[in-house]
Amino acid sequence: MRIDILTLFPELIAGAFQASIIRRAQDAGRVQLRLHNPRDYTTDRHRSVDAPPYGGGPGMVMRPEPWFRAVERLRLRGLPGRVVLLTPQGERLDQPRVRRLAAEDRLILLCGRYEGVDERVREHLADDEISIGDYVLSGGEPAAVVLVDAVVRLQPGVLGSDQSALDESFSQPLLEYPHYTRPPEYRGWRVPPILLSGDHGAIERWRREQQLERTRRRRPDLLAQSAQRSTQGA
Ligand code: ADE
Repeated sequence: MRIDILTLFPELIAGAFQASIIRRAQDAGRVQLRLHNPRDYTTDRHRSVDAPPYGGGPGMVMRPEPWFRAVERLRLRGLPGRVVLLTPQGERLDQPRVRRLAAEDRLILLCGRYEGVDERVREHLADDEISIGDYVLSGGEPAAVVLVDAVVRLQPGVLGSDQSALDESFSQPLLEYPHYTRPPEYRGWRVPPILLSGDHGAIERWRREQQLERTRRRRPDLLAQSAQRSTQGA
């Protein structure tokens, strides 16, 4: 899979790709990540990427030309790709959407900044508008890192075994059960004895109960969603 990211601040993102799973996925050739600066696709002497809003108002709006030029240039090489604009006004990113994006051959991510991006970019360039949550970041860059991480770890061969992605939270969708490792007692806090019992059936039941209980307490909305899905027969 190839992911191109358009951002005025590539340095906000570059570091996140240089360690851990994303780094390994690139080294193993599972994913190609490329950063591009829309400023390099301007045509005026001042390399301007923004301008005051028509109709007045505070702040600056990002001009459409550098985004269109950059995407069109990128598309001359390789697959057309799906264009995703990161914005707090987008649809909320969740695991089903991550899975759909992970199945694409190529993604082109646009990181907005300032007050916003000219509406024509939304209407005529972006295929999707995605938000990572109901809060406002200074720009789409942290959201792009989140999206890339979630998508890359689903690429075949990236995690230790393909099973590990399936087993984790939100495939089911329940929260994870609690994990413990050595030592069996730390500062007086003991590992639940059942996990040391060797009774695999009992451990599995306990973990399932923990998942349900945790989800009920912390994220009852997930249980409501899965109940709805099962009554819809999906
Ligand atoms: N840009 C600013 N805030 C954002 C958010 N919550 N999600 C995606 N992109 C954003």
